[in-house]
Amino acid sequence: MSELEPGLAVVTGGGHGIGRALCRRLASSGTIVVVADIDEAAARNVADDINGIATALDVADEQAVATLVESIEEEHGAIGMFISNAGVGYGDGRGGAISAEGGINPIDDRWEACWRINVMAHVYAARALVPRMLERGGGHLVNIASAAGLLSQIGDSAYSATKHAAVGFAESLAINYGEQGIKVSVVCPQAVATRMIGIEDDAETMEGGFLGNDVDGILPADTVADIVVTEALAGRFLILTHPQVATYFERKASDYDRWISGMQRFRRKLS
Ligand SMILES: NC(=O)c1ccc[n+]([C@@H]2O[C@H](COP(=O)([O-])OP(=O)(O)OC[C@H]3O[C@@H](n4cnc5c(N)ncnc54)[C@H](O)[C@@H]3O)[C@@H](O)[C@H]2O)c1
Repeated sequence: MSELEPGLAVVTGGGHGIGRALCRRLASSGTIVVVADIDEAAARNVADDINGIATALDVADEQAVATLVESIEEEHGAIGMFISNAGVGYGDGRGGAISAEGGINPIDDRWEACWRINVMAHVYAARALVPRMLERGGGHLVNIASAAGLLSQIGDSAYSATKHAAVGFAESLAINYGEQGIKVSVVCPQAVATRMIGIEDDAETMEGGFLGNDVDGILPADTVADIVVTEALAGRFLILTHPQVATYFERKASDYDRWISGMQRFRRKLS
């Protein structure tokens, strides 16, 4: 294990997709990994594979996040890295961008579910860990947002808005605590071959996701996990697994109105 490795890491949403790949990548270089997921069986499968620790966790439940941090630190020592990876996106309902309909999740309203899981879960993790990390003079919070948090996800307003909020919260964490030894990274991938875009874990093909061929460059979860861990350990704040996102983000910043027109054209093309 290198000096930079966190020793003990927690990955939320570690049972599937990018989270599962992050657990495997961290374990391969000697980190002890706590695999936390609302899907307990999936967490257990991953933990069994990597000799890690499985735990059931609903990241939308602040008390559960606080209890997890406390019990893990009591039993296993300081959490060096906490990766808030669990995330959800449901697409706009029939009501379009302002739709409130849900029913797909224990939290009924899709806006509420996205808010709690994509944003507040990051806040809950920080509330539980920042005081502990400040006291011991270090630690690393890695928040998985999305390219939708810098750009936009056409057809999913709640996802886009909450991923922007996740990026904003990570910025605040870095600005407020970066000089006191807490490292913060925010990850903004474009499409990754996971169940989120309709591709099962371990699928041999990257075809068939609901985003089809409309997205440039679908990456395998393992590739993304490798980039995330390498860049996080190097201390990078903004981790772009898909380099083209930097170009799109620059274009947006340099002429916002032109960027909106381009996105409107792209939306017309998709529909
Ligand atoms: N797949 C992509 O194209 C893509 C692109 C950009 C960002 N992301 C982000 O990456 C992260 C991981 O997504 P993924 O693509 O691996 O999706 P996934 O659906 O394969 O995995 C998400 C995991 O989160 C877990 N989860 C969901 N709700 C939870 C909750 N309330 N508490 C605990 N665990 C919960 C699920 O059980 C699952 O294991 C998400 O934050 C997602 O928004 C994904």
